[in-house]
Amino acid sequence: MRFDTVIRNGTVVTATDTSVADIGIAGDTISAIGAGLPVENAGRVIDAANHLVIPGGIDVHTHLDMPFGGTTSADDFETGTIAAAFGGTTTLIDFAIQYKGQALRQAFDTWMQKAQPKAVTDYAFHCIITDLGSAQLEEMGQLVREGVTSFKLFMAYPGVFMLDDATIFRAMRQAAKHSGLICMHAENGGAIDVIVQQALADGKRAPKYHALTRPTTAEAEATGRAIALAEMAGAPVYIVHLSCNEALEKVREARDRGLPAYAETCPQYLYLSLENMDAPGFEGAKYVFTPPLREKWHQEKLWQGLARDTLQVVSTDHCPFCFKEQKEMGKDDFTKIPNGGPGIEHRLSLIYTGGVHGKRFSANRFVEIVSTAPAKLFGLYPRKGTIAVGSDADLVIFNPEQEETISAKTHHMRVDYSMFEGIRIKGMPRTVLSRGRTVIESGKFVGRPGSGQFLRRQTYSGL
Ligand code: URP
Ligand code: ZN
Ligand code: ZN
Repeated sequence: MRFDTVIRNGTVVTATDTSVADIGIAGDTISAIGAGLPVENAGRVIDAANHLVIPGGIDVHTHLDMPFGGTTSADDFETGTIAAAFGGTTTLIDFAIQYKGQALRQAFDTWMQKAQPKAVTDYAFHCIITDLGSAQLEEMGQLVREGVTSFKLFMAYPGVFMLDDATIFRAMRQAAKHSGLICMHAENGGAIDVIVQQALADGKRAPKYHALTRPTTAEAEATGRAIALAEMAGAPVYIVHLSCNEALEKVREARDRGLPAYAETCPQYLYLSLENMDAPGFEGAKYVFTPPLREKWHQEKLWQGLARDTLQVVSTDHCPFCFKEQKEMGKDDFTKIPNGGPGIEHRLSLIYTGGVHGKRFSANRFVEIVSTAPAKLFGLYPRKGTIAVGSDADLVIFNPEQEETISAKTHHMRVDYSMFEGIRIKGMPRTVLSRGRTVIESGKFVGRPGSGQFLRRQTYSGL
């Protein structure tokens, strides 16, 4: 047996098991797991004693190089995948946007051109549908066959992204027919727009009004409606960036009834709250994203949702805009602040800190939330999302005791602030491998732009 790399003596943690073992890698994949693997002929031996070895993180919600509100998100597929890798994430599913009048294929082609020359780790796409005529309805099946097996729809942003219920229902029926998965941005955009217009008329223009004009009821109503439409269509549904207890309750009720309803939350909703929007001057703009931040008490409800499997996934909704020049576009009007926040780098550390060190769930559940469940739900398992013979050697050697304070001064995202500035994390990647190649080694990026591959995903088959 000859290995290109052997990782020795690590504590191998998957969603189901924990054991001390060696991992042998040949080419792109894991070729052996066991005690005392031969190292004499190995190309490289990595000592992982006192470290966890976990499957590479999978972030199913990112917006790299994305045009929004007259500007473009600050990380492209090179800087974004590098920052992700520093944090132990080795697979991204980004959103290819179909603009009005376009074919879905155009969205896919455009985002492939953005990603292919730049990504340092593997990537896939969901397709955002904004215009669903009969041609695009037909195309949904074609895209699924090409590995773009999920579609994001919006119930918010009227006039830009929002679809009406009939269109959503049609898309859900078509997704069900082709075993695709609908990802839903669930906020009642019509009601929110009325509240926003009233706020502007009343002269309420500061960043915090972004949050105050998007009530939890608007998110809960849309979440319940998305689930009801999916039930009628006989389709599974995945609620993205769930932020509050009221929406969580809608998902819990649906799951208690046995419906294939799933949801993700994001670290910002677990660590930040409405209070952050009271930051001095215009600083609240750093936290302008949708759904907005909520009162602090929602945080513990969301952690409990993760522990109890009401929530299956933590993604980041990484959508970075620099404070200077980009967020500042909305200095006099919160509706002009580009929506989104940076988070691709610290997801694993934040969830390990609050989840495992915080004694809310086990290291196995941590792996399930950040890697295995995303892989299963989005058609990447068992190639990604676990440590098994035949799986891609996307591996993170993770020091569960290493501590750091998050800061924009030290992060690798191409953005001039951190949403999590000053937050202490415990548990950090030391070495990160993508298909057997080392991409991060002791705080240094050692990978190569363009070496990431597009992943053709399998159709939806449950969790
Ligand atoms: O504010 C956000 N979340 N920006 C990204 C787009 C979206 O709705 O996910
Ligand atoms: Zn969204
Ligand atoms: Zn998003």
